[in-house]
Amino acid sequence: MNELAKGLNEVLDTSIAGAFLSQVGRRMYFPKGIVAQSDEAKQKADRYNATVGLATSKGQPMHLVDIMDFYKDGVFKPSDIFNYAPGGGDKTLRAIWKEEILRKNPSLMGTLFSQPLVTAGLTHAISLCATLFFDEGDTLVLPDLFWDNYDLIFRELRGCGIKTFRFFSEGRFNSTGMKDALMSCEGDTVRILLNFPNNPTGYTPSENEMNELVSALVAVADSGKKILVICDDAYYGLFFEEDIAKESLFARIAHIHDNIFAVKGDAATKEDMVWGFRIGFISYASKGFNEEHIDALVKKTLGAIRCTVSNCDRPGQSMLVKAYTDGKNVEKDKAATSREMEMRYRTIRKAVKKWESSSLLRAYPFNSGYFMAFDTAEHSAEELRVYLLDKYGIGTINIMDRTLRLAYCSVENENLEDLVDTIFKAAGEIWS
Ligand SMILES: Cc1ncc(COP(=O)(O)O)c(C=O)c1O
Repeated sequence: MNELAKGLNEVLDTSIAGAFLSQVGRRMYFPKGIVAQSDEAKQKADRYNATVGLATSKGQPMHLVDIMDFYKDGVFKPSDIFNYAPGGGDKTLRAIWKEEILRKNPSLMGTLFSQPLVTAGLTHAISLCATLFFDEGDTLVLPDLFWDNYDLIFRELRGCGIKTFRFFSEGRFNSTGMKDALMSCEGDTVRILLNFPNNPTGYTPSENEMNELVSALVAVADSGKKILVICDDAYYGLFFEEDIAKESLFARIAHIHDNIFAVKGDAATKEDMVWGFRIGFISYASKGFNEEHIDALVKKTLGAIRCTVSNCDRPGQSMLVKAYTDGKNVEKDKAATSREMEMRYRTIRKAVKKWESSSLLRAYPFNSGYFMAFDTAEHSAEELRVYLLDKYGIGTINIMDRTLRLAYCSVENENLEDLVDTIFKAAGEIWS
């Protein structure tokens, strides 16, 4: 059991609450992960705060101007704001989101997949997968660099094991490692979650790598194993290099093999810059599914939503529908954010290149999304994080003590070179 959970249990065992804690309750804790480190940076990072996965400019979230303009008298009827949303979400929003999935992933055209259901953010979509498709003791396969919340959702909430494989092999996505990890799982059902553009590395496989990845999944499926593939598309669309695979993995595997069950988790939270609205989506596909299978899965998911959050955020759904249907600036604002992120990406690439001969920190490959990350090798990423915060007022994220993540999405372009220079300087001060 996690040490933090143990500490909380010790406290609660001196009270009546301790007598009621369930097994999950006993395992639960608030990790000293991304959220806790971000909170610490909010207090101390007076120079640059590169902890937050949110696109900001001049200290404010970038956003859709149309939505900001809705915060005026008379734009909405009370029922658009105060009513419950329908179970599974606003029907127009679901239809628009499906059209958008098809627009972004043309190879899905003509294939059967479920109408996306609205979830309370993408975290909720992933948690629904854990509830519906994982039993205690099941194993989730993940690349070794992953968003820390998967640990809490799958290990602590569901009691699953996590098996990792190395994300990169010679600078490319490690499809062989992935295949070996899946093949080494016992039993005839295996489960994997893949997130591109990735948090924390900022990496999306190239077209060639994606072909290899899909072939590796098909080989596992051919061996007789049934695979659940959860595609976490949180940062979809922020692609900054030509050769990147621009369609979601979901589109590649939705109808490829009877033994592959594809789930797509995506969200307006990041794609449409409404992080606080808590609106995500979950969609299902498999080659062998017919309408009846899809309908049954949707009903199971509706049940799982009903007994957790009951219903998702109504005002946010109304505002998104209005922005998508009546907004004049949505595409323009999204394009502006994307351009800004790309400019920051190019700046940080250049800044990191300047230090490529340094052996203190090695940048993992990155080409997309909000982040880049350094491998701190034999040194402690936590030591560097704390030193940067205390000495330089710079907030970064330590992941598993061997990776230092920078969210360049939330640092102004003109500060990125200084940010990178200072990180290398600080590493030199503590480790040389
Ligand atoms: C990889 C990844 N997946 C999912 C999420 C959750 O997104 P949401 O805010 O929609 O719950 C995040 C948020 O940080 C993330 O980084």
